[in-house]
Amino acid sequence: MSSALRYDPSAALSLLDSGSLESLTEKLNAARAETLADVDLFESGGKVPAVKEPLDAGFINFPRQLLDEYEADASGSQLGRIIATAERLRADVDRVVLLGIGGSYMGARALFEALCHPYHNELSRAARNEVPRVSFEGNNVDNDALSALLGMLPNSPDCPRELTDRWATVVISKSGGTLETALAFRLMRQSIEGYYGAGSDELRRMIVPVTGEVGKLRSITDEQKYASHFPIPDGIGGRFSIFTAVGLLPAAILGLDIKALLQGAADMTDLFRTAPVGKNPVLDYTGVCHLFENQGAKIRLLSTWGKKLEAAGLWYDQLLSESLGKEEKGATPITVVNTRDLHSRGQQHQEGRRDKLITNVIVESTSAPDVTVPRFASDQDGLNKYAGKTVSDVLSAAIQGTNEAYAGVNRPTANLLMLAVTEHTMGQFFQMLMLATVVEGRLIGINPYGQPGVEAYKQNTMRILGED
Ligand code: PA5
Repeated sequence: MSSALRYDPSAALSLLDSGSLESLTEKLNAARAETLADVDLFESGGKVPAVKEPLDAGFINFPRQLLDEYEADASGSQLGRIIATAERLRADVDRVVLLGIGGSYMGARALFEALCHPYHNELSRAARNEVPRVSFEGNNVDNDALSALLGMLPNSPDCPRELTDRWATVVISKSGGTLETALAFRLMRQSIEGYYGAGSDELRRMIVPVTGEVGKLRSITDEQKYASHFPIPDGIGGRFSIFTAVGLLPAAILGLDIKALLQGAADMTDLFRTAPVGKNPVLDYTGVCHLFENQGAKIRLLSTWGKKLEAAGLWYDQLLSESLGKEEKGATPITVVNTRDLHSRGQQHQEGRRDKLITNVIVESTSAPDVTVPRFASDQDGLNKYAGKTVSDVLSAAIQGTNEAYAGVNRPTANLLMLAVTEHTMGQFFQMLMLATVVEGRLIGINPYGQPGVEAYKQNTMRILGED
């Protein structure tokens, strides 16, 4: 099966001191078999051994399941309801405030930055194809950011009622009790209830919760009878939930093709299931990262070439940190955006500690028309020698030049190549990295699901605030 996302680790592998991808074949196949057996166990509802708890393997087949349900009953399926709600919001409001943190935020942000116009919120409604502006909140505790957003949102019946003034909020929290999101939601509720009228039918259409089956947000949702709300299934953890309503509803509001996104994810799962080591991006990426970590590369750099993939990199930072940063193990992920960060971190990558494996994420085509270097009558800046070249030509030279510089001093680099940034390739990208994280967990004996280490700060914060 061919893929619009290819992993090429040849430069890194040529530098290996010992071991090879082939030498890991048996272990990688065993980790894949365990990952897939976990899916079967999860889907059978059988008893999960204590050592495997929690077992949030539901994300692996979920994209395919959603697509199949949609095919069987488009309007009655969850995907159909997500698409219908998104269409309603697009027609009804000009701003959607998306509330959520961690896994309930980073995927939506990554999709927004990868696939929408870089200046989306600044475009006219027509130039945005009638897609609302989006504002992300509930992802921090930040008085000034909250205050600035609240200051922009109409909050009383006297405020203007034109379409360009109207807003809605989507609140996303699986547990329904995360402080940052709950606090922001309380504030947004106060504001939006002031605008549309508490208890009004209109208000019920303007608040869309995405939450788990139980919890405080679920109780509020039931009590307030919001017109649309979506579940986050048990068995899909926060950072693995981008292909549930957590990522799909924001993506659909943004007018993205969520079926293509899911298809990309499902295609990657098929490839993962069937392709041998050497032709399997999930197993190959896992194996290469593992081999280099064993040789001291404890820092895993995702080097994105272009601004639009920075948030996707930050999404991966969370995925790797929360999944494998346990029992004093797990590589440290760092996302960089080049060429920007060549002017800040590049020195260290070239000459600093030999503790890094660099994975370049390279997009092989642009989404917008090519920008060309113009010729000036006066060549004071000396750029006429590049006249006629495109910005992409300059970027390609920078990618090649940087990798040659790293190779020149035996610094390992691998390439993740994307034909284009589309919904389908992004679906492949996210699913590949989620699968690789789980396989790596099985390879090193760490349960990739759950994040027990983040409880301590939460408990302390609540104690200090005065809650038992
Ligand atoms: O991966 C995870 O489970 C976490 O990062 C959560 O997504 C994050 O803590 C937000 O939790 P919730 O969706 O319950 O508000």
